[in-house]
Amino acid sequence: MFITRSTPNKALVVDDVSSIAHAVSIFLTNRGFQVRTAYDPFEALKICHTESFDLVLLDIRMPGMNGLELLRRLKSLDASATYVMMTAEGNLQTIIKALKEGAQGFVVKPFTQLELMNSVELALEKTRLIRENIRIKVYAPLLESATEALLSALEAKDYNTQSHSNRVSYYAQGISTAFEMPEEDLVQVKIGALFHDIGKIGVPDLILQKPGPLTPEERQEIMKHPEIGEKIIGAIEGMEKVAIIVRAHHERFDGRGYPDGLTGEDIPLAARITTVADCFEAMVSPRVYSKGRSVEYALNELKRCSGTQFDPQVVEFFLSLMDSGNITYQEAVPLSTPENECANPVLPSALG
Ligand SMILES: [Fe+2]
Repeated sequence: MFITRSTPNKALVVDDVSSIAHAVSIFLTNRGFQVRTAYDPFEALKICHTESFDLVLLDIRMPGMNGLELLRRLKSLDASATYVMMTAEGNLQTIIKALKEGAQGFVVKPFTQLELMNSVELALEKTRLIRENIRIKVYAPLLESATEALLSALEAKDYNTQSHSNRVSYYAQGISTAFEMPEEDLVQVKIGALFHDIGKIGVPDLILQKPGPLTPEERQEIMKHPEIGEKIIGAIEGMEKVAIIVRAHHERFDGRGYPDGLTGEDIPLAARITTVADCFEAMVSPRVYSKGRSVEYALNELKRCSGTQFDPQVVEFFLSLMDSGNITYQEAVPLSTPENECANPVLPSALG
């Protein structure tokens, strides 16, 4: 079924027969398109030098320049639009040529509204699939490389962070399965947990790697990392929801967290899950500022802070998953540098 668009897509109709151009324009306008009409190829080219369109319907037989030549020129101006040829010829060779030149569809005159609708929908779907294919083949590997590069950059500053992030992501994914989240949300939790501390890239090394207690000013600096992380991740196309997790991973269930002081379910579930995973991992792993605690100690801390720092439901699921062996303790490789031997336990909610 042809979907009426709430945000109008822009369409250009090019036909020297004004009655056809007009009828097609009205048809598309009624279906939510914002339509411009050109009555000759040169007018169409002029328009396309200053405007871009999602959909272009163009006649093949026009005076001065045929539709195939116009298609070539329009595609050189904007290869991302969906082009549908309108041909009176019913000529298979012409249609094949148009498709070879990059048209996504065609409709043979005289056409009914249903035929026009089907051609346009098929062409738009074809464009969507091509873009999806490009996204999977090109964008996804790039994103993977970018992820690796970002996490490596973070590890270079805070050398235990990447492995910490991997373990947090493991725990967070385990908890998420208990909430029976949709697949898309599971992926966001996985990535959000991996990137939760990416904002530490923007925190000075002297503070991140300081072995002793932090001054209030230094704590203020480090507490900026969720917002810095949100800016870094939010700048990547398609990562907007992940950026929200990154921003909210130091919020507390009782509203005493940062940066926004959100309370209870106002904190996105993915962030509440990441917080529990992060704090557990921070407690059991040796860090620059603390030795690792026992698993038993960390689980008791989660229980003790359930309902204040942590979402009780998330804690309950985590304890139960640990108990059943569906989530298992991921041991951190002990840090070897002497300065990390200092025992200076800090509540992970403050820094993690
Ligand atoms: Fe953090």
